Amino acid sequence: MIPQDFIQTLLSRVDIVEVIDPRVPLKKTGANYQACCPFHNEKTPSFTVSPTKQFYHCFGCGAHGTAIGFLMEFSGLGYVEAITTLAAMTGMEVPQTAAVARMPGQQESSLVDVMQRAAQFYRQQLKRTPKAIEYLKRRGLTGAVAARFGLGYAPDGWQNLDQIVTSYADASLQEAGLVIVNDAGQRYDRFRDRIMFPIVNQKGDTIGFGGRVIDGGEPKYLNSPETPLFQKGHELYALFSARRAIRDAGRVLVVEGYMDVVALAQHGVDYAVATLGTATTPLHIQKLLRHTDEIVFCFDGDKAGQKAAWRALEQSLAVVTDSSRIGFLFLPEDHDPDSYVREFGREEFERLLTASTVPLSAYLFRHIASRHDLALDEGKSAFLKDLQPLIAQVNAPNLALMLRKRTAELVHIEMEELTRLWKIAPAGARFIQPAPVRRPAPASVSHKLLRMVLFKPELGAELEKSWLIQNDDYAQALYETLVILSSHPHLDTAMLLEQSRNQSHAALIAQCGAEMMDLSEDFDVRPDFDLAKEQLLATVKQSRMRMLAQKPLRDLTEEDKNELQRLR
Ligand code: CTP
Ligand code: MN
Repeated sequence: MIPQDFIQTLLSRVDIVEVIDPRVPLKKTGANYQACCPFHNEKTPSFTVSPTKQFYHCFGCGAHGTAIGFLMEFSGLGYVEAITTLAAMTGMEVPQTAAVARMPGQQESSLVDVMQRAAQFYRQQLKRTPKAIEYLKRRGLTGAVAARFGLGYAPDGWQNLDQIVTSYADASLQEAGLVIVNDAGQRYDRFRDRIMFPIVNQKGDTIGFGGRVIDGGEPKYLNSPETPLFQKGHELYALFSARRAIRDAGRVLVVEGYMDVVALAQHGVDYAVATLGTATTPLHIQKLLRHTDEIVFCFDGDKAGQKAAWRALEQSLAVVTDSSRIGFLFLPEDHDPDSYVREFGREEFERLLTASTVPLSAYLFRHIASRHDLALDEGKSAFLKDLQPLIAQVNAPNLALMLRKRTAELVHIEMEELTRLWKIAPAGARFIQPAPVRRPAPASVSHKLLRMVLFKPELGAELEKSWLIQNDDYAQALYETLVILSSHPHLDTAMLLEQSRNQSHAALIAQCGAEMMDLSEDFDVRPDFDLAKEQLLATVKQSRMRMLAQKPLRDLTEEDKNELQRLR
């Protein structure tokens, strides 16, 4: 554990502009710096860096963070690595304090924390389990690659995870999906005698695991259940660590299996990610398109792989853009990416990738055409019938037009005929309706206060957590912020954002910080703050009064009566 005050000193010594500018060249605009966002595709810059507040925020994709967060996101570093890198820049040395043993009940462990400790435990166990190491070696993996993916081993036995918590009854183990409670109330480790693949989110936190049996056994893969941290349809295995390679390669390869990703990386193909035992979702694709314009799906050469590829195509239609290229690589039967790259090596794999990847459009037509006999009028009609709902989903106007044109050609009809047949509105018609003006809702009191506290964290000391009786997200986010400030009253904005990293409203907190980015450092928020505080207090009073007034008179204590009097 790195002490908080070290991180605070570190953040006060580094300049976020100096950290970002060599990696993403910045332009000064007013009080801030701007660039096209490195975390999603954009043509006009919405990535903004505040030199006074020492954080960045992208108004396009919502990416945000401090210098530490930037290095994690941009360079794919872990939290500790990012801190070490920054420390090296400033010539500071990271103090090595051993993780402090927790006293029972001292601190409710957060899920992120529990997952991190589990990942560490599994990694240690791998080192001391020859049969697990043997297994990975047999599959052609070196220790370096195993370390890069944080591979581990969950030992045999029912309650090994009691070693990472003070009490095995700790609810967080169950909530994190690491421990199962059966009907009889017995608790046991979900993962036993399995090779462990940690699943890491965009921030670098471990949020789930996939576990593979070593010697045959069922099921072959066991995955974490969905938990508050982990939603399968959103996450992609290895996206966090492959980010940089994806940018460098200009494309991402989507495969089915953990082992495929790891084996490909072992052979130098390090821009692969995997879906997590679920079908590809539009969210997956949108997420990937923020990193690169080219996606190649490469599933197994068997029936299941073919089916998964078609599913992926269906899911792509609505989200493909006119500038993206989505392709499909079909491996020879009996091969998956892992076996193929192991047998033929990287060069041959990449040659195949370049030579044999089928573009979405070609795959679409080929697949539907294979079901019908286009020499017959009946075949042509059925072909048209199958294609229409698929092409109708394509939102990219240019691509949609090309697909229709090709459809008309394939059945030998004129484009006008197809347009009439499919009742397609003239080009551009669907864009005529003006987009609804997004007028921001007037900020609630807690929203305003949260913004101001992020702008001047010392203002937090003037607010009481107990005043936050409203149950909206802003009130909860402000509550979380005040909790942090009550134990660390002297934080600046960057440090406050850093501390809120694992709060459930971290994104909202960052957004409120960003809303104040254009203000100059000497802007006087005092009048607004006092007003908002008064408004908040008035609501608290009203609700307290309502509560007291509702009590039967005989239940009111002397104190209650006095309070009611005062409030009135
Ligand atoms: N999978 C799963 N549950 C299973 C089987 C598979 O969640 N019971 C998911 C896993 O994410 C796995 C992927 O589907 O990585 C691919 O499964 P499969 O093709 O059966 O395995 P391989 O990737 O070939 O794994 P290996 O090479 O280790 O046999
Ligand atoms: Mn395999």
